[in-house]
Amino acid sequence: MKSTSPSQSTGGAYGRYAEIYDQLWSRAPYARFVDLSLEGVPADARPARRVLVAACGTGSAAIEFARRGHPVAGFDLSEAMLAVAAAKRRAGALRVWLVRGDLRAVPFAGGSADLVVVLNTGINYLLEPAEVVAALGQLGRVAGAGGTVVVEPLSARFLDAGVEANRHLDAEGLRFDAAYTIHGNLVAERLRWRTRGAEVTETYWQRFYSDGDLSEMFALAGLSVRDRRPMYPAIPEAPARGRILWVATV
Ligand SMILES: C[S@@+](CC[C@H](N)C(=O)[O-])C[C@H]1O[C@@H](n2cnc3c(N)ncnc32)[C@H](O)[C@@H]1O
Repeated sequence: MKSTSPSQSTGGAYGRYAEIYDQLWSRAPYARFVDLSLEGVPADARPARRVLVAACGTGSAAIEFARRGHPVAGFDLSEAMLAVAAAKRRAGALRVWLVRGDLRAVPFAGGSADLVVVLNTGINYLLEPAEVVAALGQLGRVAGAGGTVVVEPLSARFLDAGVEANRHLDAEGLRFDAAYTIHGNLVAERLRWRTRGAEVTETYWQRFYSDGDLSEMFALAGLSVRDRRPMYPAIPEAPARGRILWVATV
């Protein structure tokens, strides 16, 4: 696992992208992501009552867990994403503990969650394998003995399909274009949008980790991979193809 990282000045934290993130992801079935995460908890693990959503972004999964009655917390490196999550929490009158935090130094006590989830490639913003190992170790520490960690890494299909179609949206006053380019095992996500007459551009970098890399990193972090659960066809929509939930216990 040789590394050649570009500089990611925000450390992976989303900036102004937070302002439009939910508009772009409005059709993503977070309730089903939550179903599949809960279904993945092995029968011999602690029942998933208390949940930590790591790199929670705008909080869609955390809010879904809260709606189902789980004590839930979420953290993200981006204040802007957390502000959107907090507004949704207020609107839903839900209890979700939101804090700013980094995957590499998770701000929660050991054993404080039964289930820890990192959905939608949050882990791939860590561009060095050692950072991923540290993060998985931290998530395992929070889940504690008998707890479960569910991770959805960037899928190979995303790369194999030539980074699928670039994403575009032209609706509700937002004109958005995303372009992806691959540089070895790094993916540059170049975002450009126009809103209220102003143009914004942002670039984020992710690193693709192969199944072999991931297996090695889970093992180095002291986690036992128990299952790799494909989202498709449980989620029948095409974007779910190739997306996998890695289920590990401590
Ligand atoms: C693709 S979004 C996914 C958000 C959310 N998990 C979801 O499913 O909608 C990636 C998120 O990872 C966050 N992030 C990137 N690097 C991070 C880090 N080192 N620690 C915590 N969060 C991070 C970003 O700010 C962003 O909110």
